[in-house]
Amino acid sequence: MAMTWKDSYSVGVAEIDRQHKKLIDMINTLHQAMSQGKGKQVVNAVLADLANYCATHFRQEEKFMADAGYPELDAHREKHQKMTQKVLALQADVKAGKATITMEVMRFLEQWLDKHILGTDKKYGPYLNAKGIH
Ligand SMILES: [Fe+2]
Ligand SMILES: [Fe+2]
Repeated sequence: MAMTWKDSYSVGVAEIDRQHKKLIDMINTLHQAMSQGKGKQVVNAVLADLANYCATHFRQEEKFMADAGYPELDAHREKHQKMTQKVLALQADVKAGKATITMEVMRFLEQWLDKHILGTDKKYGPYLNAKGIH
C-alpha cells in the first residue's frame, strides 16, 4: 500500500508541505523497489536518497522552529535525531548485507512519518504561522 498525501498532513507552511510530499514519494519509491525485488544496489541507492533528504528536511524544519523561537524545538530535534540514527543504522546494515528492506521495515518508515507529521510536526504549524512563516 502506497502512502498518499492527505490534507490533514498539512502543517500550514508551504515549503514544509512540499518536503513532506517529497518524503512520501521517496518512501513509496523505496517500497516499490523492495516489493519488485530490485537488486541490492538499487535499494541501497534509493535508501541513501531517502536518508539524505530526511537530513535536509530535518535541518530545514529545525531552522524554521529556531527562527520562530518555538519552545518545543529541543524535544522535536531529539525525535529527528533518533530517527536519523535508526535510518543510518538501517542503511549500514543493508549495505553490509546484514539486513534487507522488508515489509516490516517499510511499515516502520511509513508509520513513523505518518505519526511524526500528525503528532509532532503539526504542532509547530500555528506557532510558525503566528510568526509570519506560511
Ligand atoms: Fe517533518
Ligand atoms: Fe519534524
